[in-house]
Amino acid sequence: MGVPPPILDLARTARRVAVLTGAGMSAESGVPTFRDAQTGLWENVDATALATPEAWEDDPAKVWAWYQWRVALVRGVHPNAGHRALADWGHTARVQIVTQNVDDLHERAGSEEVVHLHGSLFSPRCTRCGRPVELPDPPRDALARLEPPSCPACGDDVRPGVVWFGEMLPQEPWEIATGSVRDAELLVVVGTSGVVYPAAGLPALARSHGVPVVEIDPRETDLGDRVDHSWRTTAAVGLPALVEALEHGRP
Ligand code: APR
Repeated sequence: MGVPPPILDLARTARRVAVLTGAGMSAESGVPTFRDAQTGLWENVDATALATPEAWEDDPAKVWAWYQWRVALVRGVHPNAGHRALADWGHTARVQIVTQNVDDLHERAGSEEVVHLHGSLFSPRCTRCGRPVELPDPPRDALARLEPPSCPACGDDVRPGVVWFGEMLPQEPWEIATGSVRDAELLVVVGTSGVVYPAAGLPALARSHGVPVVEIDPRETDLGDRVDHSWRTTAAVGLPALVEALEHGRP
């Protein structure tokens, strides 16, 4: 797989790289993206409609069952060649990953600097007192409903540690993300449709600071001409090709 020369040139000279990842980054690990069809029990359910405070208010057992299914799904898959390539790149340049994903596949691949803009599947907390809660492994099989557990401290419901539509992003990850993007010499955007803000505003922020933006996604996205170069390939194909080309090109 030939890396487009302008992308390779930018990557060669960048000592500090920010990478914005979305659901497409984990697609080849077997984690379905948000705007592609889901499978099995959740096939006919709109993922974006479940990820809301309203859905939780309306039916916490349904929302909890969906998140526990996703926890089990992610536990059962592995980082793909794209995640591993980003971790390898971190050995020769400073690579700061800003992910919208709630899985832990970047960390499991070995990337050292990862910020989660939308929280994590693995940090449930109490709805009332906010305390983090340790939970046993979820059921392996998908269930249509599962009552959320109670907080051991105050007895209120435990909720997923993710950011739902309409909720504020946690402040510290956002500040780290904007700092990484502003200070980078290159921003690589991988596998995001670019429709969910404020994350989708990061490429424009990069360019307003003179940072070139490269996109890796097999399909056209909403980022359109807010990127400098688009490479229509997948994460697990493009990223290893890029990192390998960097290694071979080194004197
Ligand atoms: N490699 C790279 N990109 C891919 C691959 C792949 N193998 N497969 C699909 N894609 C691309 C799609 O073309 C699409 O542009 O990944 C993108 C996935 O888009 P979405 O499903 O919209 O995911 P994302 O952009 O991460 O969604 C943003 O919305 O639902 C909320 O909070 C949730 O973090 C999520 C946010």
